[in-house]
Amino acid sequence: MTKQERYEDVLPQVVAMIDGETNAVSVMANVAAALHEAFGWWWTGFYTVEDERLELGPFQGPVACYRIKRGRGVCGTAWERDETVIVPDVEQFPGHIACSSLSRSEIVVPVHDAQGAVVAVLDIDSKDLNTFDETDKKNLELLVKSLSKTVVWH
Ligand code: SME
Repeated sequence: MTKQERYEDVLPQVVAMIDGETNAVSVMANVAAALHEAFGWWWTGFYTVEDERLELGPFQGPVACYRIKRGRGVCGTAWERDETVIVPDVEQFPGHIACSSLSRSEIVVPVHDAQGAVVAVLDIDSKDLNTFDETDKKNLELLVKSLSKTVVWH
């Protein structure tokens, strides 16, 4: 199965699972669990925007740092730029925050509320280099759009 085929299999199931659900923590928890299980990544989870920082949200994988300043690390950069950031090799990303020394590549996708403000980021880490590409970007951006629509963020 190609990665795109896996997304085509998994995404409709995840979208159906969150349909009509409004609780942000519950939805983020189930999305992290479903993606983590389907793709076998190293760390899959969310950081939520709280004032000028990101706070650790629901995730699957090893323990992670609690908070990240705006513009810091991959997560803070994706938030500040309001765009998906793909890091093929975390050692080549200036300011990468190493929550786990085993993490080698990463993708971070901003999540928006209904008004278009960034309210969270979806952060995924892999133990391998070069795990994430345009296929992940496209599909994960599609998925977080569903979250934006159903979840009540504030
Ligand atoms: N590596 C991230 C920090 C979060 S952990 O990967 C879970 C970053 O640089 O923002």
